[in-house]
Amino acid sequence: MRIALGSDHAGLCLKREIAAQLTSLGHEPLDFGTQGTASVDYPDFAEKVARAIQSGDCAKGVLVCGTGVGMCIAANKFRGIRAALCTCELEARMTRQHNDANILCLGERVIGVELARAIAEAFFATAFAGGRHQVRLDKIAAIERGEAQR
Ligand code: RB5
Repeated sequence: MRIALGSDHAGLCLKREIAAQLTSLGHEPLDFGTQGTASVDYPDFAEKVARAIQSGDCAKGVLVCGTGVGMCIAANKFRGIRAALCTCELEARMTRQHNDANILCLGERVIGVELARAIAEAFFATAFAGGRHQVRLDKIAAIERGEAQR
């Protein structure tokens, strides 16, 4: 699977660890930056990864910042993006099964590398369950289109 990766300066090291892991699992990671330790703004990289998924260039993505929270908030502003911040394997499995999450968000300052690897492995190994969960995703899509009652 072609997977878009992005981080800010606070997520750089963990992003590189996950990139290596994804390669070893047979995936094709595509790194949209940042590539250095200079302070940058996480929404810029959330946008690059979200756009790569919207265009179909990449099937899924991984975004890493200090907490994972900012990346998650920013990525979810883009239509069709379902970004999930995961801090354990259960969340990773469930968000794939129930939410069909297409971006995994991680916080380098929150979790260790081994846990992050286990989360990423679970995320990319788990399929969407469909069925009643698709009905709920359709409602989210309707909200994005502005069709929901307010
Ligand atoms: C950067 O200092 C930090 O704010 C960012 O990486 C992230 O944690 C934001 O949510």
